[in-house]
This record gives sequence, structure tokens and C-alpha cells, in this order.
Amino acid sequence: MTRGTAIRYSLAMISWNPGQYLKFAEERSRPCVDLIERLKLDSPKRIIDLGCGPGNSTAALAQRWPDAEITGLDSSADMIATARRTYPHQHWIEADISTWQAAQHVDLIFSNAALQWVDNHAALLPRLMKMLNPAGALAVQMPANYHIAPAQTLIRDLAASEKWRNKFPADIRRWHCHEPEFYYDLLSTNVSKLDLWTSEYLHILNGPEDIVEWYKGTSLRPYLDNMPVSDQPKFIAAYQSLIAAAYPPQSDGRILFPFRRLFLIVYS
Ligand SMILES: C[S@@+](CC[C@H](N)C(=O)[O-])C[C@H]1O[C@@H](n2cnc3c(N)ncnc32)[C@H](O)[C@@H]1O
Repeated sequence: MTRGTAIRYSLAMISWNPGQYLKFAEERSRPCVDLIERLKLDSPKRIIDLGCGPGNSTAALAQRWPDAEITGLDSSADMIATARRTYPHQHWIEADISTWQAAQHVDLIFSNAALQWVDNHAALLPRLMKMLNPAGALAVQMPANYHIAPAQTLIRDLAASEKWRNKFPADIRRWHCHEPEFYYDLLSTNVSKLDLWTSEYLHILNGPEDIVEWYKGTSLRPYLDNMPVSDQPKFIAAYQSLIAAAYPPQSDGRILFPFRRLFLIVYS
């Protein structure tokens, strides 16, 4: 890929790879299941799963509410193709969350690990609330470790280092997730209930290379997509050695990967 091409891709798209994302399917599905379990909705008829990826979160929703009409929405054609192949009986649409408008009001707008890729939450979340039926709910889970986890900050530190900083465009795609107080102030008025919490999961991984594999499916993507393929192994190796120093091994050689996540459920 030439540098000119890379710059054009920076904001527009990320090369999502369903196979890479699914490598940690069990760890990644746990917060989704926790969010679904906490939802107090008896029998939502119409559900949309925003940023459904390869369909895991949509399948978990279908398991909890088998009679609901559930649609998975994602902007990645590869993710939607994988979801459609794996779960042919669900509805799938390729669309962008930031511009999507529901054709009809829905009972549940669900989003697991996707809204961090969409900016302007101050406008987005109230807009989504307006698409809900009375007694509907908006349920969201996002990673809330962008500013605190070494696995996250080290990606940006490395990209800003002398060796790499000229390789990336200034508008590289970043995560958006605010602290709980922001969401409280934004969403707590004119709703029947707001449930807001954070959890820190301690994922047990085999070694630093697992953190690298984990983020090759998400946070490393905007950087890897914006460099020539020949540079990628060098960037990945440099990141892995930083990770090895930041996440020392336990007595059995494995590592603990703390992962803070923010959950919110707003009932209209
Ligand atoms: C980390 S995956 C989450 C997948 C799934 N919800 C799950 O729980 O496994 C994030 C997904 O959000 C999608 N995404 C990111 N930005 C988006 C946008 N603006 N509109 C629609 N989908 C988006 C990506 O394509 C990706 O499939």
C-alpha cells in the first residue's frame, strides 16, 4: 500500500478481520452476556444490534429473546458476510451507526464493544434514545481502558515515537469513551431508569503475544492499516516488547490482562 492510499483510508475504514476478532471470542463475549443478563425487558419485539461484528452478540440476543425480530448492523462488509454465513436466519444490514436511522421504533438498541469507534456521543446517544418505543431500552458496553491500560497507551506512545511518528496521518481513528459522569449527565433526565457501571475483567492470557493478537483484531488495526505491509512486523515486534515489560508473567508464566469496561442501560 502506498502512503497516499494509507492516508485516504485512515478515517474512512478499518480492515476488520472476523477471524482475528474471533480469536478471543470467549473473553470478548463475557461482557456482552453480562450486559444482556442485567437487562430488565420482558419480551422486546424489535431489537437492533449496532456494530454486530461477526454476529456473536446478535446470537446471544437471539438466545435470550428467541421470539424477537433481531437485526444486526455493521459497517464492515466482511463482518456482515461472516455473520450472515454463520447465522443465516437473522437479519443483517451493512450501515454506519453514525448515520443510521431506524425505519420503525425499536424496543431495544443494543451495542457491545462498538460505540467506542463512533464519535460525538453527546449527539449520538440522545439520537438513539429517540428511536426507542416507550418502555424500550438502550444498552451499551464499551472498553473504558483507552487512557489507563498500558496495552492501549503503549500503542499510541510507540506510534508517536521518533521512528514511527511520520508514518501515520494525524487523523488516525481513535476510540471514544467518556467517564461514567459524562453519560449520567447526558442521559439521566426524562428517562425512567439509568443503570451505569464499570467492571474490570482480569483475562488470563498465555503471554504478551496474546495481548498483541488481541489488539491486532481491534486497536492496532488503524495503525497497521496505515503502514506498508513490510513495516507491520517491525511495529508489532516493538509493541510486543513494550507489552512484555508492562505485563510481567505470573508464577506459571501466564499473564493477567486487566480490562476495564463501561456499561450503561437507559430505559426510556
Ligand atoms: C469490536 S467489534 C464488536 C462486535 C460484536 N458487537 C461483539 O460483541 O462481538 C466492533 C464492530 O463495530 C463495527 N463498527 C465500528 N464502527 C462502526 C460504525 N460507525 N458503524 C457500524 N459499525 C461499526 C466494526 O465493523 C466491528 O465489527
